Formats: sequence, structure tokens, C-alpha cells
Amino acid sequence: MIVVQTKQELDERLAEWRQHDERIALVPTMGNLHAGHASLVELAREYAEKVVVSIFVNPTQFGEDEDFAEYPRTLEHDTRCLKKSAADLIFAPNIETMYPLGLEDATSILVPRITENFCGASRPGHFNGVTSVVARLFALVQPDMAIFGQKDYQQQLVIRHMSLDLNLPVKIITGETMREDDGLAMSSRNQYLDDDERANAPVLYQVLSGVAEELQRGRQNHEELESKSVKALSDAGFSVEYFSIRRAQNLQIPDRDCDELVVLAAANLGNARLIDNVVVTV
Ligand code: PAF
Repeated sequence: MIVVQTKQELDERLAEWRQHDERIALVPTMGNLHAGHASLVELAREYAEKVVVSIFVNPTQFGEDEDFAEYPRTLEHDTRCLKKSAADLIFAPNIETMYPLGLEDATSILVPRITENFCGASRPGHFNGVTSVVARLFALVQPDMAIFGQKDYQQQLVIRHMSLDLNLPVKIITGETMREDDGLAMSSRNQYLDDDERANAPVLYQVLSGVAEELQRGRQNHEELESKSVKALSDAGFSVEYFSIRRAQNLQIPDRDCDELVVLAAANLGNARLIDNVVVTV
């Protein structure tokens, strides 16, 4: 496992691989890796001869009152974890490599509309930061494909939008959400849960799955399903940010003919902000 931190070291490795016509897959992460990331690395390996995992806690995607300072930075653990995986290289750049002109003068990419609701509404500027850093990673690594997790459903749609709109030569692949045995979606932020909250946290996935089943059975009153779900989660101690049934393709309100839906939610439990979703074909 090679760990590189500078653009020059990265360029040297990439040039060597490209000389051998090897395809390169990128798995962008903010580190603090878990089995969910490992599954994205395995998926990347199915598409490419070489897999690069980037580890960078990107300041521009955190709001002022968010957890940028506390976000766990665990490069040693991450390196050990990736040694056992199919990754070939860790790219762990510093802030100067990612934002060479400084944060104040950094070019920013804004995807309109699809970024305005859901996580975009509760985290203003968040997707701006995500698309800006992902575009930078694409420019640095120039991967053939990049893998993003389905747990961040809106994020992967926003990145698909950016790539399509800017004609970026990177295939976007979405890897399925990995779950703990009790159904909780794996996330670095799960470690903010105390024991009681952790025991309660799987209720989010249970409610999402329950709604998915109702939809599959032909239930069409989405508003009723949504409000019942918000109540169920609130009763279980969650503070719900959103709970919605939308078109899987673009998060628009679905009409009756839409057969690919996504049920998506964000809810806070103690200090942890949990997001999750289930895609349903009806
Ligand atoms: O999903 C994440 O971990 C981050 O948003 C990403 C895509 C690595 C960009 O910083």
C-alpha cells in the first residue's frame, strides 16, 4: 500500500500505471474508514486494475456550526484497514494541494436545483463544497471511474449531474449501502451515538423499509406515509429533518406513473445526524 500526499508523488504513480494502460478507479473518502468504504473499494476493483482511495476532510463542505473540527482524522487506522483491501494507493493530500490558491480564492462549483432540498436545505453550501472538492479530486487523479456510496443518495445524484453537465470523462458508479447486523447504515458519524442512541438508531432503517414495503404493496398516499413516518421517528426520539418519497432519478415529486422511487430521510439522534434511504421499484 502506497500513501502519497503531494501532487508530484501522485503524478509519478499515475503516469506509471497509465503507461501500462491500466484503468484507474477513485474512491473519494474523508477517512475514518469502515466496512462500508471497504465495500466501495471492492466494487472499484471490479471496474479497474488500480484503485486510488482519497482521504481528505474537506473544510468547504462543513457549515460553520458543524463537526469539521471534531471529524475523526485516523490516517494510521485507515492505512491499516486499506492494507487488507484491494486498494493500491492512498492519496491523502494536505489543504494546499487541494486548494492551491487558498480557500478564499478557491473556485467553487454550484449544481443548481437538485442541491436545494433535503440535505442541501439543512446544510446550506454543503453540496457546493462537495462538488468543488470532487471536481478537484477528478482533476488531480483523472480516474476512469469514481465510486460513491448510496447512503449519500442526494450526493451521488448531484455528482452525476455535475459530471454529465461538465462532460467530465469519469464514469460515476454507486455502491450499495453497507449495514450493521441490525440494519443501521454504516457511517463515520455513528460513533457520535451513545449506547442508548445506538440501540435506537436502527429504527430509522426500519421505518424506511416499512414505507418501501407499503409502496410495493401499492399504497399511493405518499403524504400520509411521510407524516406517519415522521411521527413514528419522533416518538422514537429522533428529531426528523426530512422524510420524503421522491423520484429515484432526480428527487422530484413523483407522479402516479413513476416506478422508481426513493424513500429518503435525515434525522438527528443526540449528536449524530443520520441519513439513510431505500430505493423501491413499484
Ligand atoms: O461522501 C464523502 O465522504 C464526501 O462527501 C466526499 C465525496 C469524499 C467529498 O469530500
